[in-house]
Amino acid sequence: MFRLVHLSDTHQPPLPPLPARAFFSKRVSGYLNWMRGRRNVHLADVLEKTRRAIIGMNADHIAVTGDLTNLGLPAEVKQSRSFLESLGEPENVTAIPGNHDAYVAGALEEAVAAWAPFMTGDGHTEPHFPFVRRRGKVSLVGLNSAVPKPFFVSAGELGDAQRKELARVLEDEGERGAFRIVLIHHPPLEGLDNGRSKSLTDAPALADILKEKGVELVLYGHVHRYAVTPLSTSTGEALMIGTPSASIEAGPKRKKPGGFLSLEIDSIAQGHWNLTVERWGVKTGSPKAEQLGKEKHNLERTNLPASYAGGPAKNA
Ligand SMILES: [Fe+2]
Ligand SMILES: [Fe+2]
Repeated sequence: MFRLVHLSDTHQPPLPPLPARAFFSKRVSGYLNWMRGRRNVHLADVLEKTRRAIIGMNADHIAVTGDLTNLGLPAEVKQSRSFLESLGEPENVTAIPGNHDAYVAGALEEAVAAWAPFMTGDGHTEPHFPFVRRRGKVSLVGLNSAVPKPFFVSAGELGDAQRKELARVLEDEGERGAFRIVLIHHPPLEGLDNGRSKSLTDAPALADILKEKGVELVLYGHVHRYAVTPLSTSTGEALMIGTPSASIEAGPKRKKPGGFLSLEIDSIAQGHWNLTVERWGVKTGSPKAEQLGKEKHNLERTNLPASYAGGPAKNA
């Protein structure tokens, strides 16, 4: 059994003071956005309660799917590095960037450099997307869909090179019989987002790769909403799971209630997995995070590779 905690869109509250030069960039729109509403939605107290609950879960691995910051400011990047460090050792915590971490040109490079130990693949010394981290029978594949965009546009893009490499990685890991988990900030399929300004521009091409090469699970954030969407692939049915923001309260008061997920992956036979998804969140006024729901899914490989014999070694 492998327990993975998935959190996303921490948006590290509160926003630090804005440097004067930031008023001449796209950051000014984000700052106004923060002052007008987001500061009452993304709460430091909620994120701290979430963090404590996650640490208490003693998960095998923790995945953070982007938007760690609000404006990609150096102070936010530094704070987010401390947040990641507080979750666990980099080998047990994987992070990928989101569009807010690439708010203006140059921000993404600084963020990736600061968070490098958490986004470096096995056998590599620095981040490169996609990266692969093999943990037991699970292969985590980290993508970067964050690219700087004009004012009011939060769309993302993977680009040709990353997509091509993803296809190869999914094939290789599939050949090993691994439980493949792709981490991406933007929703991987069209229709899972809030419209064109927010979507992944090459989602159709990504969907083709997922369908052709197969995948077991895709975890994403960005839209701050819990959603489970099946996708038929050449190796069976996969699930696309979106998790809400980890710094927003759960409960009916919120337009988009926050929370995080705890996923239990149980290999019950060759190419046959039970996946239990627990939804967790911090309700208004609650002293700690609590479980909000639980769903069970069955995932089965339809065409096991010839080389497959009981799955990858336990300590792979
Ligand atoms: Fe976000
Ligand atoms: Fe986002």
